[in-house]
Amino acid sequence: MLKGIIPYTHHLLKTTIHEGDIVVDATCGNGNDTLLLASLVGDTGQVYAFDIQKQAITTTKTLLDKHGHNQVTYIQDSHAKINEYIPKEHFGEIGGAVFNLGYLPRSDKQIITTHESTIPAITYLLDYLKKGRLIVLVVYYGHDGGEDEKEAVLTFTKSLHQEEYTVLNYQFINQKNNPPFIIAIQKR
Ligand SMILES: C[S@@+](CC[C@H](N)C(=O)[O-])C[C@H]1O[C@@H](n2cnc3c(N)ncnc32)[C@H](O)[C@@H]1O
Repeated sequence: MLKGIIPYTHHLLKTTIHEGDIVVDATCGNGNDTLLLASLVGDTGQVYAFDIQKQAITTTKTLLDKHGHNQVTYIQDSHAKINEYIPKEHFGEIGGAVFNLGYLPRSDKQIITTHESTIPAITYLLDYLKKGRLIVLVVYYGHDGGEDEKEAVLTFTKSLHQEEYTVLNYQFINQKNNPPFIIAIQKR
């Protein structure tokens, strides 16, 4: 069976992230991806979890504490400021990153990711990323403002040089109601 969007996202993260890695959840939301990242990197690794909403940081921290993970750094700020929080020594050493674009489920639908912050965040993360590793973007775009971000993300990722990056688009093309899709960028 073809994997759905979230299972395939998790498959990509599981097959590329290793114990001891330093990784980033750029939009931690309810913490589901942060939990996966923390279990993949283990006690010797580190997870940076970003979200602009206090509610998201609190929910994520509660979930991770419940599972006994204390290797997570929680940052309530925009992922566009990633370079202010991740030390420069980690240039070329980040083992992977995930973005879930859109709004926090069951929360304020006005608070959405936008290309003004998403594109700078991806750009910084590409410098931080280890060779062979991935930035996985899950693009939800059915909400107001989602289409602009989707177009900007596609334009930006399609323009990445193929000598430096391999870019995958994983998408179901016969589904209704703007289903999410994946863009995965692998550094060569
Ligand atoms: C689709 S949700 C994330 C879902 C999450 N991965 C989960 O497993 O529950 C998108 C999140 O991005 C956050 N967000 C919006 N703009 C942001 C920004 N500039 N920097 C960091 N987070 C942002 C929202 O607050 C929201 O929680």
